[in-house]
Amino acid sequence: MEHTDPPIRVRNYRESDETAWVRTRVLAFLDTSYRDDVQMYRERYENPSVRLVAEDTSSRQLVGLMDIEYENKPGEVCNFTGERGGIIWHLAVLPEYRNVGIAQKLWEEALVQLEGAGIHRLQVWTQDDEPANHWYVARGFELKHSYLNVFARGFIDKGPLNELLVGADKTWEFGHIRNLNFEADSSQRERLEALSYRIHEVRGYELDLKKVLPSS
Ligand SMILES: CC(C)(COP(=O)(O)OP(=O)(O)OC[C@H]1O[C@@H](n2cnc3c(N)ncnc32)[C@H](O)[C@@H]1OP(=O)(O)O)[C@@H](O)C(=O)NCCC(=O)NCCS
Repeated sequence: MEHTDPPIRVRNYRESDETAWVRTRVLAFLDTSYRDDVQMYRERYENPSVRLVAEDTSSRQLVGLMDIEYENKPGEVCNFTGERGGIIWHLAVLPEYRNVGIAQKLWEEALVQLEGAGIHRLQVWTQDDEPANHWYVARGFELKHSYLNVFARGFIDKGPLNELLVGADKTWEFGHIRNLNFEADSSQRERLEALSYRIHEVRGYELDLKKVLPSS
């Protein structure tokens, strides 16, 4: 698992990585549509998981991470059924370390561990960031679902937000919505563009490893 230029080692996550992991995740999302998805903790999974980090061995800094939770029984984690699967919950590489194959190295180690666990089907949800979508599609992931992640703000007594917030107290003195974030069906995009300042398409991909890896 040793690589040169930069000297990167992919290894299993350790509990002592927690603070560095949280910081790496936030920094790696800052230039993406997930920039406001700041998480101050590292979640614990109910099911088994592949938890990998990429470490720059010259600085001992974490520069990338990948988490995949997988099922003991079909349907526990994924929304497809029929066989046990896994979900990629996190994949991130620091901006200054991208495009030199670090996510690919994490992926190769994840595939070994998934094979060992007998998992051959994966799911991932990501937004409309071009590098992430390109990365998943290049590895054989197929688009299966999509919906909208909508952000709106403004004064509720004026404009389209008034219409949207049926039942809200529109007489409230401090009636300024700082941020209203909600999910919506993709068919509503045109209407929602009129009242939002930011919309992301959330895309659900699936991968059947048996199709892309002949040895699986
Ligand atoms: C998506 C993301 C994880 C990819 O990480 P990465 O380490 O840059 O990915 P890789 O280097 O493995 O692959 C990127 C491209 O780099 C290029 N590349 C790979 N190895 C390379 C090398 N040794 N030298 C030069 N370029 C290389 C390839 O062209 C590859 O394209 P491909 O997908 O067609 O193979 C990264 O862009 C990221 O962290 N984005 C922000 C977080 C995010 O959006 N995560 C997904 C949310 S679920």
